[in-house]
Amino acid sequence: MQNRNQEKSKQISRWHDFKTQDAINHATLNRILAAADEAIAARGHFSIVLAGGGTPKSVYALLKDAKANWAHWHVYHNDDRCLPVDDSERNSLMARTTWLNHVEIPASQIHDIPAELGNIEGAKAYSNILAGAPEFDLVLLGLGEDGHTASLFPNQPVDNSADAVPVFNAPKPPADRITLSQQRLSNTREVIFLVTGAGKQDAVNNWRNGIAIPANLITPKNGVDVYCFGVNF
Ligand code: 6PG
Repeated sequence: MQNRNQEKSKQISRWHDFKTQDAINHATLNRILAAADEAIAARGHFSIVLAGGGTPKSVYALLKDAKANWAHWHVYHNDDRCLPVDDSERNSLMARTTWLNHVEIPASQIHDIPAELGNIEGAKAYSNILAGAPEFDLVLLGLGEDGHTASLFPNQPVDNSADAVPVFNAPKPPADRITLSQQRLSNTREVIFLVTGAGKQDAVNNWRNGIAIPANLITPKNGVDVYCFGVNF
């Protein structure tokens, strides 16, 4: 019997069904911009943690043309692949070419994961960067077909005492990655999962049926919002 102190915090999730890709993209854009305005008004800065993979790219393309108080934005990544900085598969390169290279966020406030250093050295370096970061304002996350999120994969528990951790045998290539731990991803005021396409249906079914997948290990105090298009629930 787990006592209250040991009891794992249970994820609170709110599910949002969108009927078109355009609708989910604009809802995400609008929420990101509103969260930024709220954070900057309250604390003078806005910290956002970006999702990798393909799903968020169309949202980043909308952010490229958005009007925002960019000087107060601080950008992090929830994971990256251990590849050269200019490799087209790098999450940091996708975010820069799609959005960040086109807006006036100070270079010192864009924190790529140094995944080109390799997973062990890169994770240590990013943990040092994150040590100076307060609670995040907004974390964006994707969902893999197997229920993974960031580079937290099923049956691959990570060291939650660290902010950024090495991944060695990712089933989604490349095998070597760096990911924020679920503990660090949960240290945030807000989480939005972006889930699109029938390929994610099994993961959504497992998630909603309470089957343990990495996505439901993300347990911020305010719960998570799951923005869905093309999946049924
Ligand atoms: C990565 C991502 C990963 C991604 C999911 C969904 O580096 O691959 O961080 O967690 O978010 O695999 O990927 P898609 O958005 O391409 O379906």
